Amino acid sequence: MKTLKGKTAVITGAASGFGLETARLCAAAGMNIVMADVQQEALDRAAAEIEALGAKVLPFRLDVAKAEQVEAMGRAAYERFGAPHFVFNNAGVSSGGLIWEHTLKDWEWIVGVNLMGVAHGVRVFTPMMLEAAKHDADYEGHIVNTASMAGVVNMPNMGSYNVTKNAVVSISETLFQDLALVTDRIHCSVLCPFFVPTGIHHSERNRPAEMADDAKPTKSQLIAKALGEKAVTSGKLTAADVARMVMDAVAENRFYIFSHPRALGSVQTRLEDIMLGRNPSDPFKDRPQIGENLRNAIRSAE
Ligand SMILES: NC(=O)c1ccc[n+]([C@@H]2O[C@H](COP(=O)([O-])OP(=O)(O)OC[C@H]3O[C@@H](n4cnc5c(N)ncnc54)[C@H](O)[C@@H]3O)[C@@H](O)[C@H]2O)c1
Repeated sequence: MKTLKGKTAVITGAASGFGLETARLCAAAGMNIVMADVQQEALDRAAAEIEALGAKVLPFRLDVAKAEQVEAMGRAAYERFGAPHFVFNNAGVSSGGLIWEHTLKDWEWIVGVNLMGVAHGVRVFTPMMLEAAKHDADYEGHIVNTASMAGVVNMPNMGSYNVTKNAVVSISETLFQDLALVTDRIHCSVLCPFFVPTGIHHSERNRPAEMADDAKPTKSQLIAKALGEKAVTSGKLTAADVARMVMDAVAENRFYIFSHPRALGSVQTRLEDIMLGRNPSDPFKDRPQIGENLRNAIRSAE
């Protein structure tokens, strides 16, 4: 997609991190923006900031895990601005710990937000965009789904997060292929960031009451939280850098967006494991001390 001025962006998770930084770039490009988020106060603040940059903004509070709320946001977006040209299915939450230690509520929450949130966005907006392309020969659209490096490599103790992000890569690759069957004017990309400082390590702030759990976090979950926080907060790239990568990929119609391409060696090793029928390689083989520390911490919990 070449021209953005006067076009419309829909961004979920727009009140913080990658979503907010992308909204800033969309505003600078002269786009109308639907800013969707679950956190009302942060959304109000973010929407006011983006409006002050001169953009037309429709703030919409929703939980992306709820089908009917994403559908309502789709209707509101269409009524205000017409079919969007750029849809960023980005809202997400983090989780960690040994895969068998998630409670049912943990699974329901993270699958609802990270996987179904993206599925709802694709389900609601793709038909709207295809319809717009049918009636307007100049229409072009682009959908970006936020996965993670955890969508292409499965590090230990990252539990259901890996599962949902693998699923987002799968949705996105399938969407890419399916769109190519029916149109040349709507494209898609998948964003796979590594660790970048945002609010992601405080995801519990957005856990709804009906997903609350009486279970105390297990030792492995506490370890995952501490390591996740350290990795996220010490990331060198900024959320603004990542938002710029997203907008460049949309302009160049590039599918895979990796914030840290130098980390792709671990993806290659994983794919070689699959091709050669090897058991999964040690993900920490280049930095064995990290794996050793994690193993020791987890085992000392027994
Ligand atoms: N920051 C990283 O290191 C990193 C790495 C890989 C992937 N990601 C992914 O990037 C995406 C954006 O996260 P971020 O890092 O900007 O974190 P963030 O916490 O700063 O922003 C996420 C936003 O999503 C919103 N949100 C959470 N649950 C929601 C729900 N149910 N409905 C609607 N909105 C909801 C939050 O309120 C927040 O504004 C997520 O999908 C995350 O998994 C982040």
